Amino acid sequence: MIFDTHTHYDDDAYDEDRETVLDRQFIGGVGRIISCGADLKGSRAALELAERYENIYAAVGLHPDNSDEFDPAILRQLAAHPKCRAIGEIGLDYHWDVWPRERQKEVFMEQWRIAGELGLPVVIHSRDAAEDTLETVKEIYREFKAAGRCFRADMHCYSYSPELAGEYLKMDMYFGIGGVLTFKNAKKTVRTAEIVPIERILLETDCPYLAPEPHRGSRNESSYLKGVVAKLSEIKGISEEEVERITFENACRFFSI
Ligand code: NI
Repeated sequence: MIFDTHTHYDDDAYDEDRETVLDRQFIGGVGRIISCGADLKGSRAALELAERYENIYAAVGLHPDNSDEFDPAILRQLAAHPKCRAIGEIGLDYHWDVWPRERQKEVFMEQWRIAGELGLPVVIHSRDAAEDTLETVKEIYREFKAAGRCFRADMHCYSYSPELAGEYLKMDMYFGIGGVLTFKNAKKTVRTAEIVPIERILLETDCPYLAPEPHRGSRNESSYLKGVVAKLSEIKGISEEEVERITFENACRFFSI
């Protein structure tokens, strides 16, 4: 069974056939799904999907592009939902730089501190912000360790160097691996998957984006992760069943399900 740890099924791309697509996942070898928020509307939609489907759980939070929507009271209220299992996606995005970098960092850290208070893990989005992300993660790591707080984090769609992955591994972090692993030019991601122990890998689509081969370019869905499972099985030298079983257990442990 596959556990897809990062999806956006609330996206417009599924407006015509959302139910059909979701039903197809659960009969096609997908056991559980995390629906991930990126803004307030998407976080509420993630919770609604989690209410409708037994095997869907939610992450709520603000992507750095939506830093202006941050309100601690609203985030706490959303996170109190019994099917909310993480705060995310939160982080830094210096590719678009929609909001000043200082503000992005502040909102990233504040959301993470709320996750810490609530005992929830975080799902991190980081684009073109390698240095500042590592610095921020280290800062929170020190703060949480000193306070005896639970520190659990997933580098969603990890795209930095394998060397940097080593730094995150020292803090016992998890790595979201998806469609990119199957792309022809994915040398860095393949190297990362080689280095990171299988116990620290979470399967994720980030659908509707980043469909793996042979579906590259089309609308993504959780069952397409079979292609990523096959590639991981080759890299790790274990069977596809083992890859599914171990990554499923990883996700259950990470999201406390
Ligand atoms: Ni995402």
